[in-house]
Amino acid sequence: MKVARITLSDRASAGVYEDRSGPEIERILGEHFAGPIEWKRVVIPDERPQIEETLRQLCDAEQCDLVVTTGGTGPAPRDVTPEATRAILERELPGFGEIMRVQSFAKVPTAILSRATAGTRGRTLIVNLPGNPKAIGEILPMLVPAIREAIRHLHGE
Ligand code: MTE
Repeated sequence: MKVARITLSDRASAGVYEDRSGPEIERILGEHFAGPIEWKRVVIPDERPQIEETLRQLCDAEQCDLVVTTGGTGPAPRDVTPEATRAILERELPGFGEIMRVQSFAKVPTAILSRATAGTRGRTLIVNLPGNPKAIGEILPMLVPAIREAIRHLHGE
């Protein structure tokens, strides 16, 4: 399985702080998927054209099975991940964002601030997650069954 993790953060990409979110995605998916994973690792700023170009590249040229983004989903002016994602999606899967907000809200009232979404482009599943590593730990494990099933469907199984 080929999986990309993209950290969207002005500060992490500038080296102001260390990216802890990308490695957290890798750790959790590594624990939940049995087979070997070929990783594509990207850390880029919150620039919409660059995000769109990176997503297209990972779907069309790299043919990743799964692309997980972290960060840029909130209401701050520089948060553009959902817009960039929707611009390149062929089909949206709104259930991912809906369930992560509903389930997280029970634990963290600010969970409703995330505008994260998901969807498909070609045979690639793309899933947005919030930027906080703790949020990734709260959300990603519960999405794994749907991620696994979506990848199967995209492969025509
Ligand atoms: N979801 C969970 N499970 N845990 C969290 O701590 N933080 C929220 C929300 N979703 C959070 C969460 C906050 S404070 C924000 S601003 C939004 O995610 C968007 O975060 P992002 O801009 O880093 O993507």
